Amino acid sequence: MSDFDQAAIINALKAVLPAGGGAVPLHEPSFGGNEWAYVKECIDTGWVSSVGKFVDRFEQELASYTGVKYAVAVVNGTAALHVCLKLVGVEQGDEVFVPTLTFIASANAISYCGAIPHFVDSCETTLGLDPQKLDLYLKEIAELRPAGCFNKRTGRRIKAVMPMHTFGHPVDLDPLVEVCRRYQLELVEDAAESLGSFYKGRHTGNWGKVSALSFNGNKVITTGGGGAILTNDEQLGKLAKHLTTTARVPHKWSFVHDQIGYNYRLPNINAALGCAQLEQLPAFIKNKRELAEKYRAVFSEVEGVSFFTEPGFAQSNYWLNVLLLNRDYADQRDALLEASNSLGIMTRPAWMLMHELEIYTSCPKMDSLSVAEDVERRLINIPSSAKLGEPGPEMAIGKEAINR
Ligand SMILES: Cc1ncc(COP(=O)(O)O)c(C=O)c1O
Repeated sequence: MSDFDQAAIINALKAVLPAGGGAVPLHEPSFGGNEWAYVKECIDTGWVSSVGKFVDRFEQELASYTGVKYAVAVVNGTAALHVCLKLVGVEQGDEVFVPTLTFIASANAISYCGAIPHFVDSCETTLGLDPQKLDLYLKEIAELRPAGCFNKRTGRRIKAVMPMHTFGHPVDLDPLVEVCRRYQLELVEDAAESLGSFYKGRHTGNWGKVSALSFNGNKVITTGGGGAILTNDEQLGKLAKHLTTTARVPHKWSFVHDQIGYNYRLPNINAALGCAQLEQLPAFIKNKRELAEKYRAVFSEVEGVSFFTEPGFAQSNYWLNVLLLNRDYADQRDALLEASNSLGIMTRPAWMLMHELEIYTSCPKMDSLSVAEDVERRLINIPSSAKLGEPGPEMAIGKEAINR
């Protein structure tokens, strides 16, 4: 059994992070491009609000980067998820599979539809939804009827599966797509964390019928607050735009709304930020991957802990880097969080599992959520801003640096 040495872990972090530069946040945005110029243009021209050329440009460039046919910019990732679920026909009383190891927005979006989150386990190699385990579970609980897939235990329809690409690492999508096909489940990707992550060469968010991105301040690129809906389906793309812009029937002056829509549109001034950020995305991803490589190298020398790396089929954006304490040392997690944060190195644990939150304890769940429970106990996120991976003076990575 390897030893746990908190000081060695802290020293390894210090070996990668800038020395003496004050506190190191978990993920801070970088604004080194055309942000000022584009935002100024919005203010100078008065186009700051619900429509404008930056919204159109941002949508086109997002679609082109992710390889989808349609991208619709919205106010945040949670709103994007809400509308995604509506678009695939999730209705009051339906169940939707979602990992218990996720951010609250995934489960909440399901609740906003009057639907019920059904919590499933994750997989050790991706930290995301485990398609094989889901398949076995469905064999036990599902029944295909003319109206779709039903949960024999609750009698409710199961309408969709919403995997989440945890900390930017893609879920194993091929087997998941196959499970969805066999059980007539709609695939909605929560790609909030995975802009710039690819599964077998194709961008995450380009696998589901619809998908959601987030541009919150802590994401790979930011629009202040923002999100997007992605789809390859023309009808759904148009409907996404319609529903997120109050479902107003286009007309020069009259206000007719043909559905109860949402005011979820992304303001032009936020989209201006987004256009400037997208120009820098390839550099952000490159730097984030460099940072991950530095962490991988230093932590390969440290006992008691492992640095999580992308699965073989994926190219990940390494949104938030992950350290996993060896099982025997899970009880040291909080002390490590305490020690690093008190030194100004911001670290944090995984989210509390959804099925353990009081608001969601009565929801259906897999009989065993053992992988998510195990990972949650011993996971720590460490500083991951793109600028930490910028090329700088060669660092001595190895035992010498770790001992600093
Ligand atoms: C997995 C996941 N889903 C959804 C969201 C919601 O995005 P937003 O904060 O933009 O509403 C986030 C991030 O914040 C997230 O990490």
